[in-house]
Amino acid sequence: MKTYEIAVIPGDGIGKEVVPASLDVLRTAAEAHGGIRFAFTEFPWSCDYFMEHGKMMPDDGMDILRNYEAIFLGAVGDPARVPDHISLWGLLIKIRREFEQSINVRPAMLFEGMESPLKNPKDFDLIVVRENSEGEYSEIGGRIHKGEDQIAVQNAVFSRKATERAMRYAFELARKRRGHVTSATKSNGIVHTMPFWDEVFRDVSQDYPEVATSAYHIDALSAFFVTKPHIFDVIVASNLFGDILTDLGGAIMGSIGIAPAANINPSGKYPSMFEPVHGSAPDIYGKGIANPIGQIWTAKMMLDHLGESELAAKLLEATQDVTARGIKTPDIGGSSKTAQVTAEICSRLKSL
Ligand code: NAI
Ligand code: MG
Repeated sequence: MKTYEIAVIPGDGIGKEVVPASLDVLRTAAEAHGGIRFAFTEFPWSCDYFMEHGKMMPDDGMDILRNYEAIFLGAVGDPARVPDHISLWGLLIKIRREFEQSINVRPAMLFEGMESPLKNPKDFDLIVVRENSEGEYSEIGGRIHKGEDQIAVQNAVFSRKATERAMRYAFELARKRRGHVTSATKSNGIVHTMPFWDEVFRDVSQDYPEVATSAYHIDALSAFFVTKPHIFDVIVASNLFGDILTDLGGAIMGSIGIAPAANINPSGKYPSMFEPVHGSAPDIYGKGIANPIGQIWTAKMMLDHLGESELAAKLLEATQDVTARGIKTPDIGGSSKTAQVTAEICSRLKSL
């Protein structure tokens, strides 16, 4: 039997509610469908840990995490006690950077039982692959002069290595899905980096003749997310474009409480990290009403990453069945508690 060694960091706030719920779901999935088991090792690294030790994780924290096949994280942040820049940079962003998790992946789909803010959402099911290490979010630049003569310059940095890496990831993903990659470009307005982006896209696409491609300028592409999101399969985008598109993707699904994400180390040199889009939601922590779906869907992405796609598909199906039956937390218009939604998903999983 295959055992997956997973490092688990529930973190703060509702992370401490939705992570245990998702571990129940993962254990149930493994038991019901056999062949694999999970060995979860929990780490209490969080703002509580910071209050006690003056740091978000121990000094050898990264060396410890390195040995796991994946990192499953809830949320980080307790702004009433620890400033966000300390808690996030001391844990979440530290892991993303040091483990070279250079690709951020976020799906968006019409989830049965969810209300999309779109008036007539057709059945959309898309994934945004965002380059997460450079691009527009570079530290290259500065300011010169004072007062009304002041000038600020920020340089966008596009290396062939990182651009190609994100694009290959998108093509590999599309190959396992509906076989279509859309490039988010803006080569009509950004005249150096974006024509380069287009060139690399054309080059990479040569290696995937079975995958169809299209390219849209980011402005039109954003509009299509609203008017016809069902036309997309996989979208590859630079850091800035991907950042904006993924928030839009989350918005058309109807709630941040269900949106999942993955931070991928594409070379496999370090573990990848799976964490939902939402934060620690201090406003609802302790009430037992946090929506566990964002974290559970994130667990599904982790299963896909580990190569357990069949089990991953079952997990998503069970979750959607439960939402479709109206067993939902208050954030998406229901009156169920975290524990009820979780128990229903587990029981559905056993019968699939
Ligand atoms: P948030 O995502 O925690 O909450 C925003 C709103 O959405 C709140 O009203 C919250 O109740 C609701 N919400 C979020 N997830 C939900 C769920 N699963 N079920 C039901 N309702 C849910 O964002 P906010 O309030 O801006 O940040 C709170 C803390 O979380 C801060 O310390 C922030 O820095 C941190 N944060 C951490 C992230 C991470 O760990 N990746 C991401 C975003 C914020
Ligand atoms: Mg963002």
